Amino acid sequence: MSPVAPLTFAHGPSWRNRLALAPLTNMQSGSDGVLSDDEYRWLVRRGEGGFGQVMTCAAYIRDDGHTFPGQLGAAGDQHSEGLTRLAAGIRATGAVSSLQLQHGGRRADGALGAKVGPWDDDAKGVTALTTEGVEQIVADFAAAAALAERAGFDGVEIHGAHGYLLAQFLDARNNLRTDRYGGDPENRRRVIVEVIDAVRAATGPDFQVGLRLSPERYGIPPADAIDLARQVLADARIDYLDLSLWDAFKEPADPGFAGRSLLSCFTELPRGDVRLGAAGKIASAADAEAILGQGTDFVLIGTGAIIHHDFAARALADPGFVADPQPVTAQRLRDEALGPAFIEYLSTGWDDFVV
Ligand SMILES: Cc1cc2nc3c(=O)[nH]c(=O)nc-3n(C[C@H](O)[C@H](O)[C@H](O)COP(=O)(O)O)c2cc1C
Repeated sequence: MSPVAPLTFAHGPSWRNRLALAPLTNMQSGSDGVLSDDEYRWLVRRGEGGFGQVMTCAAYIRDDGHTFPGQLGAAGDQHSEGLTRLAAGIRATGAVSSLQLQHGGRRADGALGAKVGPWDDDAKGVTALTTEGVEQIVADFAAAAALAERAGFDGVEIHGAHGYLLAQFLDARNNLRTDRYGGDPENRRRVIVEVIDAVRAATGPDFQVGLRLSPERYGIPPADAIDLARQVLADARIDYLDLSLWDAFKEPADPGFAGRSLLSCFTELPRGDVRLGAAGKIASAADAEAILGQGTDFVLIGTGAIIHHDFAARALADPGFVADPQPVTAQRLRDEALGPAFIEYLSTGWDDFVV
């Protein structure tokens, strides 16, 4: 499938092509989660650069989920005005907009509230959520999705990846809860399924709902990740599943799944009208075409879109397009509409990004 082809969904608007901006934490907003001009400019520029969908960074859904300095918030009415401006700005570029909804759980920074998680951890100052506490988390994800819809976003992505709160529930080593949210695999994935249902119930029929999962690491047995994907693809309550693979071409780390690509464990699952996307090391038009050719419906571009605001436009126009390699200069990133806080984060938080 060519990246140029538009992509339709069971709910919400079509994307003009199959290249999506990956969610990218950029630390550019206020300490109160209010959108800054720098964060607005960074994202709107990616819409202008031709992406079919522009997704925000992980935005915290309530104060105790706050994870990064300068993280965008979706935690209440104080965030509405900025989100409304952002949704309108992205829409004006012709891209579909999505707000990524996240709660840091054990990995929250504690800046705005005491840390909570699936289990107690005195050393990290984390208190286990009660059963009612988990139910409240589900309700708070739904409230954040409703806030996004009121602000004019076309959809949200539920962040179930990268070891944040929802992924922490999937951790087979540590989630030994004895209520319905822990213990066996079905219980461990229940919170994610309930969040999907609650988000759907809180939003209208034209609202696009995605889910991001990491199939490896963070204590998640690959077989559990595959079973969860099988379930959410079959349920058809989400519009798309976004697989965060870090390297979309890799083999599974688990020797039990060796000899095939990690991606193929998911593309082979029946999925009806639910779309499947993947992210990780897609750095050229040929890479995008290859991952689409392996049976995905869309691809997400992270690093390549930091380096080229118009990665999408270039890749769609030229099958030979290859993103410039890292590291790049700070001036280059300024020219690509990154503000100082994002450049500082890339310099200090990531290897070999900035010269
Ligand atoms: C600076 C940076 C920030 C990121 N922030 C997020 C985030 O907020 N939410 C998320 O789900 N993934 C996040 N990721 C992961 C990306 O969405 C993407 O999956 C990953 O970078 C692999 O794609 P790439 O090889 O094209 O960069 C981040 C990655 C980078 C490099």
